[in-house]
Amino acid sequence: MVQKLILDVDTGTDDAVAIMLAALHPALDLVAVTTVNGNIEVEKCTDNTLRTLEWIGRGDIPVFEGLATPIVRSDFPTPRATKRDPKVHMAVLPLPAPKGRKQEKPAPTFLSDVFANNPGQITLVAVGPLSNLAAAIAIDPAFPTNVAELIIMGGAVDKSNITPSAEFNIWADPEAASHVFRAGFKKITLVPLDATHEALVSGDQCDELRSLGTAAGVAAADIIMHRIRGYEANQPTGTPLTAPVHDAVCVAALVDETIIDTKFVNVVVETVGEYTIGRTVVDHEKRTTRPENCHVAFHANRPAFIKMLSEIFARGPMPGAR
Ligand code: RIB
Ligand code: CA
Repeated sequence: MVQKLILDVDTGTDDAVAIMLAALHPALDLVAVTTVNGNIEVEKCTDNTLRTLEWIGRGDIPVFEGLATPIVRSDFPTPRATKRDPKVHMAVLPLPAPKGRKQEKPAPTFLSDVFANNPGQITLVAVGPLSNLAAAIAIDPAFPTNVAELIIMGGAVDKSNITPSAEFNIWADPEAASHVFRAGFKKITLVPLDATHEALVSGDQCDELRSLGTAAGVAAADIIMHRIRGYEANQPTGTPLTAPVHDAVCVAALVDETIIDTKFVNVVVETVGEYTIGRTVVDHEKRTTRPENCHVAFHANRPAFIKMLSEIFARGPMPGAR
């Protein structure tokens, strides 16, 4: 049966790969994409999302723009693409400017409405800061129970990226993330850095994607090679000429749950620690009596992930055939 999903993104180079995988996979029906402030300002995330969908011939999928700031913090957005690591993300993806426009309805309103109208039918895959989700909960307290499953790219068990103790999506809006983990979603799957860094994509694999000759293959190769150069320069992965494509692992795991290896544990988010704001505290050794609330991916299957990218990006239009 085809699985309906909605992607919440901060596009974002790896978000773009996730969008193409979700829009082209025959087992998935990408109902809509919502955008949020994160890697870059939300308006640019929206523009990049529209570019990505139109590039692969899926300009029919509606895009709804969301929050431009976290729900509490005032010390962000300092868009990371223009400040900390201009090398891994891009303010503007190397794709033609979009012909279409975003929808008028704000993303949080769209999210609360669409899940209320389709209770238990749609999976939400959130691969940016969780600001839109917190706002949707404020609009409709029943929102968490209307979502069939929530898959989040974010957090970490032992790894980090934006600070020594936190991963970017959670750190960028920790109050939103803390609220989401406590809000009563029926099923939460968390795909943290520990898993996504086991599904690294290499320069050689980018060459294979480019040789597909399709719009998706060429774009994925260009975008992931950009990430590889960025990681080589400022966040070495320890494996030459590779980069994680965090967000796409979440979409792949929705199609094939064996892509990730999970444990059902308790996860809470630090929102006050001077040095630890945004840390996901993953109680996988049962140090507390806090109840399990999240299926956390501790490992990912790199060959299966790469195989899916190659198979799915062989689909869709040739470059420019919009
Ligand atoms: O830390 C990785 C996450 O932060 C990814 O979702 C990336 O796109 C950025 O949003
Ligand atoms: Ca992202």
